[in-house]
Amino acid sequence: MCYNLAVPTIVLGVTGSVAAYRAADVARELMRSGHVVRVVMTRAATRLVSPDLFAALTGNPVVVDVFDEPVPGQIAHIRLAQEADLVLIAPATAHTIARLALGLADDMLTTLALATRAPILIAPAMNPAMWAHPAVQAHVRTLQARGVEFIDPTYGVMACGDEGWGKLADTPTIVQAVQQRLARTKDLQGVRVLITAGPTYEPIDPVRFIGNRSSGKMGYAVAEAALAHGAEVVLISGPTALQPPAGTRVVRVQTAQQMHEAVLAEFDACEVFIATAAVADYRPERVLPTKRKRTQQGWTLRLVPNPDILATVAQRKGERIVVGFAAETDKALQHAQQKLRQKNLDLIAVNDVLEPGSGFEVDTNRLTLVYADGRVEPLPLMSKRECAEHLIRAVVHLLQEKRQQ
Ligand code: C5P
Repeated sequence: MCYNLAVPTIVLGVTGSVAAYRAADVARELMRSGHVVRVVMTRAATRLVSPDLFAALTGNPVVVDVFDEPVPGQIAHIRLAQEADLVLIAPATAHTIARLALGLADDMLTTLALATRAPILIAPAMNPAMWAHPAVQAHVRTLQARGVEFIDPTYGVMACGDEGWGKLADTPTIVQAVQQRLARTKDLQGVRVLITAGPTYEPIDPVRFIGNRSSGKMGYAVAEAALAHGAEVVLISGPTALQPPAGTRVVRVQTAQQMHEAVLAEFDACEVFIATAAVADYRPERVLPTKRKRTQQGWTLRLVPNPDILATVAQRKGERIVVGFAAETDKALQHAQQKLRQKNLDLIAVNDVLEPGSGFEVDTNRLTLVYADGRVEPLPLMSKRECAEHLIRAVVHLLQEKRQQ
């Protein structure tokens, strides 16, 4: 494993909450713990705290407008977006959270947040009624579903006199969250993760196929989460309309046999294999060369079994971590445990596709992680991106355990 030993750069976004003054303490502590800090302020924040304070504390110019160019000729929001190892927004107002959720780019901070590939951490601070408001909570969930993480506000008396949940988390909590998030950006560095995703289409004739309801969302979310942990990701994808996360190498396939060949070609070079694809178990025995015309007669198709890609490669997994998915409709846990053994897996993520909010096409899932050592870890209903994060953390632990053996 190779680690990036460079000093991490934190872009600290400061927005117009009364707690903006506390961002100075956060900046100082981040620098004390070995980070470079570059501050970006919203216009509202500059009415509460002078940018000069942050410039003096951090030794770096502070930017506010999209057109601010501290280094002439360099487009600041792109340069900062690329330099950032992590973007921390502390304090974050309801307004900025909403702008980020909507993908607006009307100032330097929101523009940079769109342009960066670095992880984003948000520490909100606002009146308790605002924090509890369904609009704010909906924006928080939208951002969480994209992999943004929150450092929850704490309970206390606000500047306005109200009491409740809404105070900016304390500085040590924020600094620790930054350190933990940065550590995770590297825990799969140098590890190649191979992922299958989406459905397969099994042709009947040039216009018809047998497919399934898989959208690919779970597999693409797993790819995103693995990337966020620093992995090198190879995504073997069946047909989907999804945009693969930037930085993945994508191999596109249509049929189960093509997916099998692609996996065989990539398997030896990977350290982790995660099979999220809903591979068609059967394919038509014969593919008609031309479109079959409609007649008044019935039509019987003879199907033959497809290879079980996961079971085949897991037989020769060696030191690799191999993870499967099981979409079940009954006795989910029992079937998952059976599959885990039969397919020689380290971990299987099982979900009941008949449960509301779980399974195909939707953005959420309720997974239970079942381990080879018998451990069973039920996860609550959450976005597929969050499920993916849990799964990748489980993979990191399994890898660490294996390396210690
Ligand atoms: O046996 P079942 O199809 O339910 O197992 C599901 C798991 O096996 C998933 O991880 C899926 O990606 C994988 N699988 C496969 N090749 C198949 C069928 C399933 O890799 N032909």
